[in-house]
Amino acid sequence: MQIVNATQLPIVRLGQVEKRYGKGEGSVHALQAIDLVVERGEFAALVGQSGSGKSTLLNLIGGIDKPSGGRVHFLGQDLAELNDRELAQLRAQEIGFIFQFFNLLPVLSVFDNVYYPLMLNGYKKEQARRQVMQALERVGLEKHAMRPPLELSGGQQQRVAIARALVKKPALVIADEPTGNLDSETGRSVLELMQEINRENGTTFIISTHADSVRDVASRVIRIADGKLQHV
Ligand SMILES: Nc1ncnc2c1ncn2[C@@H]1O[C@H](COP(=O)(O)OP(=O)(O)OP(=O)(O)O)[C@@H](O)[C@H]1O
Ligand SMILES: [Mg+2]
Repeated sequence: MQIVNATQLPIVRLGQVEKRYGKGEGSVHALQAIDLVVERGEFAALVGQSGSGKSTLLNLIGGIDKPSGGRVHFLGQDLAELNDRELAQLRAQEIGFIFQFFNLLPVLSVFDNVYYPLMLNGYKKEQARRQVMQALERVGLEKHAMRPPLELSGGQQQRVAIARALVKKPALVIADEPTGNLDSETGRSVLELMQEINRENGTTFIISTHADSVRDVASRVIRIADGKLQHV
């Protein structure tokens, strides 16, 4: 009998994944025959020209969107076998998302933005307070907890988004051009923060980027062109 140890399963495994947007004449074949394995602890850069399929691929890995064909496994679980509620639960617990434009909720305080994913996981605010403040301390923003995010600089807002992605201690963080809206120095410090978290906690990162700085420090570079992975 083979004993499967969940900690040895790859974080994600894609088999012959296809994605088509639309039907017929005007349809776009955004991803073709994607085979990809990402192991625990990787700090992977996903690079390719605009329109090559990076965001589409990240959305499929993160269970935000569904493939038109093929399989996406997350920690051994075939995402196609989950119903919407189970998929939402898996995302809420195991996957953190960071976006180019931060996607913070402007009407909530910094604290409440970071608390939000824990709320989705059923935590009361009092239960979550320590964890939220630890995440904010980790990104150096504990003093700004009660401010609205729009009063912060771009780099600080992206740090709030990093705290929000990390607060639930996910297995995987997916970052879609996280430094794309930051000046190069601020981008570098956000990148360093993500690297530190990768080293300290073993959190796996997949980061789409146009920036050389990300490519230079990544443990692995995944290249995509016209919806196909490039093996070099
Ligand atoms: N919702 C959608 N409906 C139709 N076509 C889409 C949709 N989203 C993406 N596409 C198309 O799929 C292809 C891949 O787009 P995608 O956004 O994944 O590229 P990208 O590599 O993330 O580009 P960028 O670097 O500009 O963010 C493009 O041809 C795009 O036009
Ligand atoms: Mg994109």
